[in-house]
Amino acid sequence: MIQFSGTGLRYRQGTQALRGVNLDIEAGSLHFLTGPSGAGKSTFLRLLYFALRPTSGKLTIFGEDTNKISRVEIARLRRRIGVVFQDFQLLDHMTVFDNVALPLIVAGRREHEYRANVLEMLEWVKLSHKVDAKPPFLSGGEKQRVGIARAMVSVPDLILADEPTGSVDPEMGERIMALFREMHRLGNTVIIATHDLEMVRRSGAPVLRIEDGTVARYGPGGRASLPPPPGAIAEGATR
Ligand SMILES: Nc1ncnc2c1ncn2[C@@H]1O[C@H](COP(=O)(O)OP(=O)(O)O)[C@@H](O)[C@H]1O
Ligand SMILES: [Mg+2]
Repeated sequence: MIQFSGTGLRYRQGTQALRGVNLDIEAGSLHFLTGPSGAGKSTFLRLLYFALRPTSGKLTIFGEDTNKISRVEIARLRRRIGVVFQDFQLLDHMTVFDNVALPLIVAGRREHEYRANVLEMLEWVKLSHKVDAKPPFLSGGEKQRVGIARAMVSVPDLILADEPTGSVDPEMGERIMALFREMHRLGNTVIIATHDLEMVRRSGAPVLRIEDGTVARYGPGGRASLPPPPGAIAEGATR
């Protein structure tokens, strides 16, 4: 699903964030992305979201060469990607409900089709009582949970999460991890950047470790074997 081939990313200011990355990420796999602060985790995820293009080498996502792809195609492919940003990226003038529904609104879906899915996601992240609130009135952890609900509501083929449990307590962190495992169980590809090594160890999932700008894979290759999630979610969700 994703192929890095001698891929490098150098920021305009001169930082060589990634260099010579060679990696295949199989469809339906779940990986953690680790590495010290400043290692390049967010850069790696930005490449996969088409927010950056490689400055050297090649990167293929969903069979498309990111160096050749048009803006229109990027917009189309992004609909297959759910992303949890480190800085949440919520729209302040919209309610929590509409922020979560955004990927479905953009995809032209009607409220009666997605209302139940949005409410289910909000229930999972324990924000049912905040559906009508707007992001400026939420705590950091609540904003993070809105971002997570939005990333998953459309059950996208590829889920990219940048430190998704960074602002929540351990119990909520476990709920969120169960949600990622459920997305994986449904056959979607999941990549979670984190520096919570304890969470990584407990999960038993394979790890992509970034160090000195390059990426190495550790642990079981391909599809990870994970314990079943506590309770199925997103049953009624549609693509
Ligand atoms: N927009 C940017 N412009 C220039 N340099 C950047 C930018 N974003 C990140 N970097 C640099 O690239 C390197 C990797 O950063 P990042 O991908 O954010 O790491 P991580 O997410 O692992 O903390 C760091 O040296 C960082 O300072
Ligand atoms: Mg980062």
